[in-house]
Amino acid sequence: MVKVLSVVNQKGGVGKTTSAINLAACLAHRGRRTILIDFDPQGNATSGVGFAKQCVEKTVYDALIEDVPFREILLETAFDNLQLAPANSDLLSAEWHLAGDDSGKYVLKQSLSQYLWSEPEKTRPDYIIIDCPPSLGQLSLNALLASDSVVFPVQCEYYALEGLAEILSSTTLLRQNFNEHLALEGILLTMVDRRLNLSRQVEEDIRQAYGSNVFSTVIVRSVRLSEAPSHGLPIIHYDPGSPGSKSYIDLTQEIIDHETKSVRAWPLRPSVRSAG
Ligand SMILES: Nc1ncnc2c1ncn2[C@@H]1O[C@H](COP(=O)(O)OP(=O)(O)OP(=O)(O)O)[C@@H](O)[C@H]1O
Ligand SMILES: [Mg+2]
Repeated sequence: MVKVLSVVNQKGGVGKTTSAINLAACLAHRGRRTILIDFDPQGNATSGVGFAKQCVEKTVYDALIEDVPFREILLETAFDNLQLAPANSDLLSAEWHLAGDDSGKYVLKQSLSQYLWSEPEKTRPDYIIIDCPPSLGQLSLNALLASDSVVFPVQCEYYALEGLAEILSSTTLLRQNFNEHLALEGILLTMVDRRLNLSRQVEEDIRQAYGSNVFSTVIVRSVRLSEAPSHGLPIIHYDPGSPGSKSYIDLTQEIIDHETKSVRAWPLRPSVRSAG
């Protein structure tokens, strides 16, 4: 069965796109048919897997606003089992279109449902990974209402705990009102450098507060990870033996393990509060 997974945080620059691209690429590499949806007008996931964002013909905007069938916007990437639903700055105006209509929050869910119903079983995806923009506007709302689970990337820095508490409480509200089936795939610590006291302290605080809701795998800070998108390559293809590549391979294993175990219950509040 397909699993739709959103990568969400209203804070900018925390590693959402890096995680969405590399998780999607590692799942595809493990033989899971995967679609990466670029749901951010910045189009960074689109360029990160090798497409010039201003040259793509049909984008997520067309599927959401122009009623173009979802299948028609899909692009085959250079990587086996990985398709892309691309985006570019056209998507900016989708926020306004979607906000103007009461059923606007369900447009992605409807588009994906139609696609999944009509797709033959042998080409139906196993995973759909959605890279959300850095806000909790209409686009993220659409993504979360279409999703089975969510990954929250958190950068290991000052105020990480406060930021995490905010995103968890907003998503909890959204979940209660619109999608009570949404599960927590996990909290993902990104840009971790365990040589730094701050990074170690933040990791310890978050693990103490959220326990097993935090992935065991952390994403290490690595220059190779930040270089890869400029070559249009996920890290497992850009530098397969690098520590950044290993981080995403390990994360993917944890997510594949969830195929046979139930995912985490929704955490209503952290078990322990401490300063971030
Ligand atoms: N583990 C890492 N090590 C080093 N650099 C990283 C790592 N993860 C992300 N980066 C870099 O940090 C910057 C922000 O990452 P990314 O674009 O993934 O964040 P984002 O949350 O998607 O940002 P936005 O909110 O703008 O969409 C990028 O330049 C990226 O290459
Ligand atoms: Mg991004």
